[in-house]
Amino acid sequence: MSKIKVGVVGTGFIGPAHIEALRRLPNVEVAALCEVSQELAESKAAQLGIERAYTFEELLKQDDIQSIHICTPNFLHYSQSKAALEAGKHVICEKPLAKDLAEAEELVELAAKTGLVNAVHFNLRYYPLARQMRVMREKGDLGEVYSIIGSYLQDWLFYNTDYNWRLEPDKSGDSRAIADIGSHLMDIIEYITGLKTVAVMADFNTIHKTRKKPLKPVETYSGKMLQPEDYADVPINTEDHANVLLRFDNGNRGVITVSQVSAGRKNQMKLEIAGSKKTFAWNSEAPNEMWVGNRDGYNQTLTDDPSLVYAEARSVISFPGGHNEGFPDTSKQMFREVYEAVAAGKQPENPTYPTFADGYRELLICEKILESNRKQSWVEV
Ligand SMILES: NC(=O)c1ccc[n+]([C@@H]2O[C@H](COP(=O)([O-])OP(=O)(O)OC[C@H]3O[C@@H](n4cnc5c(N)ncnc54)[C@H](O)[C@@H]3O)[C@@H](O)[C@H]2O)c1
Repeated sequence: MSKIKVGVVGTGFIGPAHIEALRRLPNVEVAALCEVSQELAESKAAQLGIERAYTFEELLKQDDIQSIHICTPNFLHYSQSKAALEAGKHVICEKPLAKDLAEAEELVELAAKTGLVNAVHFNLRYYPLARQMRVMREKGDLGEVYSIIGSYLQDWLFYNTDYNWRLEPDKSGDSRAIADIGSHLMDIIEYITGLKTVAVMADFNTIHKTRKKPLKPVETYSGKMLQPEDYADVPINTEDHANVLLRFDNGNRGVITVSQVSAGRKNQMKLEIAGSKKTFAWNSEAPNEMWVGNRDGYNQTLTDDPSLVYAEARSVISFPGGHNEGFPDTSKQMFREVYEAVAAGKQPENPTYPTFADGYRELLICEKILESNRKQSWVEV
């Protein structure tokens, strides 16, 4: 069997997670990577056991590379996705798809014109119980959605000495916590419930108005090693914390809170979706259990067991019940679906995986959230 050859762009935190997930697929070979410089690319290639190392421009010239994974800081997603599509490559881009809506719109149009496979790595959809919640809603088990409470909390930017490119709007975009982790939340809420967000009312807070920027580069999550003399003071103008009220197209309401300064919360997305028949509650830090609340009769706990979930959710579970799956498995399951499309050579009519159009949708909501925070009033989506 000839394997589909893949090139990965950017190998900081999430690039190696893509590589590991891709290596678990039987029909894919991670053949090459690229980095900011040829030198860094070569050292990363040696470290990650990948044969070929290039600059971005050189990578795109490789005729045998069929698909490209964009795992760079947000400001590069647009130009790199565009160049990869123009070079005839299928593209799997990290979230958020672009820095702003205009860029995302152009990418959606270009991808549609080429017919190439396009996907955005909203991998949290691929927790099996996220799929199960969606399928239960589709089959009518949840009933009409009455309300949604969502949160995404982290603590890796808790101290004013914590620093990353995400704190700089020219690299991250005008939003930080909402664009970085709120993006997953906005995507998964619409994915599970099938509702559309039609209006938002946002209130942001920047806890650390000044942060200490390291005078040498640090990769995501690795800033804890520096000493006081290694920093310079910089003003911060993006949100550490955001509350957003949501109105949905069924007339009902929700609320989300996003924070990157919640001590002890490492990477916790929580959802509570109350319907006319049941309530679902789920937490990404304990992803193999889901609480099902009933007004009449006992509440229930559903575990991530292929024999207990609907067949549509079973397809994203690889192990029997009790053999816990987690964050790395989400990317594997998503890429499995994406690479079925790559093997067929084109974007299917109704992809099961998140596409550039979903990336556009999330950016649209994000942009309205920013506008609402600026105006301190409701904004329609
Ligand atoms: N889906 C998820 O769960 C998830 C998780 C983390 C990050 N992300 C997304 O992944 C992207 C990268 O985040 P990260 O945390 O890995 O960042 P990072 O800073 O750890 O890594 C970025 C990498 O890109 C490289 N790079 C920079 N410019 C480049 C260029 N011109 N060409 C090639 N490589 C270049 C850097 O050298 C670095 O190795 C972001 O858009 C982020 O939103 C998604």
